[in-house]
Amino acid sequence: MTKTAQLIFEGKTIDLPIVEGTHGDRAIDITRLRSEAGLITYDPGYMNTGPCRSAITFVDGENGVLRYRGYPIDQIAERGSFTETAWLLIFGELPTRDQLARFSAGLCAEELLHEDVKHHFEGFPPNGHPMAMLSAIVNSLGCYHHDLLEIESKGEFYLAASKIISKVRTIAAFSYRKSMGLPFMYPNPALSYCRNFLHMMFSIPHRHYDPSPEAVRALSLFLTLHADHEQNCSTSTVRMVGSSQANLFASVSAGICALWGRLHGGANAGVVAMLEQIRDGHRTPREVLELAKQKKFRLMGFGHRIYKSYDPRAVILKKAAHELLYKLGKADELMDIGMELESAALSDPYFIERKLYPNVDFYSGIILRALNIPVQMFPVMFAIGRMPGWIAHWYEEHLEHKSKIHRPRQIYTGQVLRDYVPIDER
Ligand code: CMC
Repeated sequence: MTKTAQLIFEGKTIDLPIVEGTHGDRAIDITRLRSEAGLITYDPGYMNTGPCRSAITFVDGENGVLRYRGYPIDQIAERGSFTETAWLLIFGELPTRDQLARFSAGLCAEELLHEDVKHHFEGFPPNGHPMAMLSAIVNSLGCYHHDLLEIESKGEFYLAASKIISKVRTIAAFSYRKSMGLPFMYPNPALSYCRNFLHMMFSIPHRHYDPSPEAVRALSLFLTLHADHEQNCSTSTVRMVGSSQANLFASVSAGICALWGRLHGGANAGVVAMLEQIRDGHRTPREVLELAKQKKFRLMGFGHRIYKSYDPRAVILKKAAHELLYKLGKADELMDIGMELESAALSDPYFIERKLYPNVDFYSGIILRALNIPVQMFPVMFAIGRMPGWIAHWYEEHLEHKSKIHRPRQIYTGQVLRDYVPIDER
């Protein structure tokens, strides 16, 4: 029997069904609330709103649990690769050897951009932010793949997903090369997904960049840990845009824009800026914490809407950052400063009471710095990683909610009614 919650309003009792997830999550189904009670829900920031059912990623923020399609993130991080994770998120199961080989070959086949796309980069100023270029050029892919603007079959979806996952890496690397005034390096189909990205970033004509296996592995881990995180701001954006039946290229391009903000994917660059200020003697860790407590500043890489405990991705990234620096024989002062700041915050009542812990962005920048990725590329790296998640969510929306456009309501607080005033009488 379906459980219900009862709402009593103005003498009328309304039964509202309870929706349950596989992990015991419960929600009140309010789809009939307005028609039966004349009410809508008010939930700024969607703190208590579940706009969809989703079978992709499970997060238990109280206990620091993250699972992709049921698989614990630590197992995936230790044993999987980014391309395998992309397949898992998008298609729901771990790929067989044959599926993974075909998927990887498909990504290689799609790695080039149409030659005309290269000219788009010429239109950007040299100091243009690579996130702006990434979003614009991913959207422009729709101009080159008209046949994939309407997705009717699984085969078309597979092709569009492969194109985006492969080309986003080429576009990202080209954005960086453009910002540095360096020639574009074409992708090399003989290289793995991550090695190929590092090649496009750092090889120069007649001088091939050959990253260490540790660097390639660290990049794969970084991307894997960013691959999905259920209904966050950018993913919700992708789902919302997709709900209007906008095409996949346009929808994920909107996701890139949403990710750019400092409270979301822009936080990793914010963490590095904050740690550099401490390193350069502009502020002490204590002063940074005080500013955060006085609400003059957000401690970047700290706090999370869902996690009220240590973000499991931050646990893995912190350890991985240590290991990478050790294996590459590098030292990074920012790592030590970060740990000092973390320890001071975690023993401060302000952060304890509010359950503010390091999130995915706190240590990820240390890994990116060790890979020589410049700071303006940090959110771009997040976007490459999040692409499989966005695509998986877009498809889930496409399949399950095809005809339901996302269209929230509001509580109108403006003027009730006024007569138009001619301009000379104002
Ligand atoms: N530094 C100082 N105070 C904070 C912080 C922080 N980083 N985060 C939250 N608080 C305080 C906030 O001021 C509020 O205090 P009070 O109860 O006195 O008003 C309380 O903690 C709850 O904060 P909130 O803003 O209501 O929480 P939220 O769920 O709306 O925000 C957040 C989540 C991630 C936007 C926020 O924690 C934040 O701004 N963190 C810094 C930016 C950051 O690291 N973003 C990356 C998030 S994880 C990856 C991603 O999504 O991209």
